[in-house]
Amino acid sequence: MNTLVTKLDHKWIHLTLRQPWITAVAASKVQLSTLPPEPVVPSKKPFKVDLVAGKRYSWCTCGHSKNQPFCNGAHKTKAQGLSPLRFVPEKDVTVWLCGCKYSNNPPYCDGTHKQDFIVSATLHEQTYS
Ligand code: FES
Repeated sequence: MNTLVTKLDHKWIHLTLRQPWITAVAASKVQLSTLPPEPVVPSKKPFKVDLVAGKRYSWCTCGHSKNQPFCNGAHKTKAQGLSPLRFVPEKDVTVWLCGCKYSNNPPYCDGTHKQDFIVSATLHEQTYS
């Protein structure tokens, strides 16, 4: 069984060819799977948010929501494979939620936004619905 990993349309495509010697004819035998997309960077700063104890929150992980830092469902069309991070605070608290989407302690900011790869990243334009 041959395996091919290629980048196509900004997505990594992993192809597994069951019968690689007849790839042109055996298109229906090709299995496609995509790795989860990388989040876009909607903000290079965290969001200060007052959270209410017991309330359910959905933190946007894809960066496409226009309701940052929270999910608005944009991942369903813009970043299939990513889902919001749902959490319920145990007490009323003011926190800094990550806006860059690359925190190692999501949904909370951990300072990752100060790293070069975020500082030099292109800010995602929120021109979507
Ligand atoms: S805004 Fe993402 S780590 Fe700070």
